[in-house]
Amino acid sequence: MTKTLQEKDKQFLWHPYTQMKDYADRDMLLVDRAHGIMLFDKQGRSYFDTISSWWCILHGHNHPIIKEEIRKQLERLEQVLLAGTTHEPAIHLAEKLIGLMPSSLNRVFYSDNGSTACEVAIKMSLQYWQHTGKQNRTKLVAVERGYHGDTIGTMSLGGVPEFHQAFKGMLFDSYRVPSPYCYRCPVGKQRSSCDIDCLQPLSKLLAEEGDTIAAMIIEPLIQAAGGMVVYPAEYLRRVAKLTREHGIHLILDEVATGFGRTGKMFALEFADVEPDFVCISKGLTAGYLPLAATLASEEVYQAFYADYLENKTFYHGHTFTGNPLGAAAALGSLKVFAEEKPFTLLQNTIPHLHQSMNRFLELPWVGDLRQLGMISALELVKNKKTKEPFSFTDRVGWKIYLQGLEKGLILRPLGNVVYLWLPISATIAEIDEIIERTWSVLSDPQNISGWQC
Ligand SMILES: Cc1ncc(COP(=O)(O)O)c(C=O)c1O
Repeated sequence: MTKTLQEKDKQFLWHPYTQMKDYADRDMLLVDRAHGIMLFDKQGRSYFDTISSWWCILHGHNHPIIKEEIRKQLERLEQVLLAGTTHEPAIHLAEKLIGLMPSSLNRVFYSDNGSTACEVAIKMSLQYWQHTGKQNRTKLVAVERGYHGDTIGTMSLGGVPEFHQAFKGMLFDSYRVPSPYCYRCPVGKQRSSCDIDCLQPLSKLLAEEGDTIAAMIIEPLIQAAGGMVVYPAEYLRRVAKLTREHGIHLILDEVATGFGRTGKMFALEFADVEPDFVCISKGLTAGYLPLAATLASEEVYQAFYADYLENKTFYHGHTFTGNPLGAAAALGSLKVFAEEKPFTLLQNTIPHLHQSMNRFLELPWVGDLRQLGMISALELVKNKKTKEPFSFTDRVGWKIYLQGLEKGLILRPLGNVVYLWLPISATIAEIDEIIERTWSVLSDPQNISGWQC
């Protein structure tokens, strides 16, 4: 049965971010069920979901409270448009989300994935300036190594060329500033003695072009898809200050970081900033159903609030915007936060994870260890002294991925970066087991393709 399904998979499916030919002579893991941090196949083999099913599972799989909230909602209303009608879960959730956010944000616009949450913020900002008489504010700023999604708008603000170069010709122009990538500092400084000097280009850009810029978008504290680049809170604090000084909207993309993963409910709390927009998805429903939201300030909202004939309506929406089941799942997740108090557990698990990961630094191919909350990333290098990276052709992540499966781990390296992105419910025993198995994969030079020393 499993074999037949896997054959049909090869025949009918096209998987995301996957070179299908890699599976020409191997089967894709067929997941049958999941519980807590574990995935199970039909043969009863189990796998640690160390990347929280693409960074979204928060309280573990199969959580009774979240399932019950979805089930109850399913009995009442599964879907309705959010234009001209509304529903209870969307209203309750919006109220709760506003309560969790900085006071600058008090309007919730729903969509259904992280890319659209960002796309909405970009469009709202651009239209805001049209409505407020600053028609010249049409440019956007993003950060190299940033990632905000795969729509045309968010790709135009992406900073990971490998993902989007095929579409270069159709992307709109935007400004890019250096990534605060301390391990490979763009201005050759050491974090211990620098004054966040990598911000100079942004300072200069805003001084010269500030009044043509609508907004800047950034992932707070960690550039995730760009290589798990954890950066100092001070960088974000100064970005917020600079954008405010120049009257530019600040869009924080909390799609990956939101809802406790970093050790705080939102990563923006590390820098205590008041953005104009926050984009959330993934952990919003604890990973159970697709839902996203863009939170905006009252000032932005008011610029759209006008007589119909003034033509200030925000013409944007998706069929499943604010889907009732998704909103019920999100309310279920917030109930878990209230009842299980995961931040108490995190006080122990985060330091334990961070400390236990240090052992990887002794491996000659581990150049850097970057950690934030339940995220822990290792950058593999060919030469620790020169930081020479493994090349694209080494495909260092592929063998690690395959070996991970052998050891019962879903590891899915991003290029040369092997990382754990753990659910906030992970226990110390689970963390220890994951680290032990990851060690057995990474400490074997035979699993490090391209390692010749
Ligand atoms: C920071 C960030 N923004 C946006 C997105 C896009 O989200 P989605 O895949 O739901 O479109 C992602 C996805 O990984 C992300 O990490």
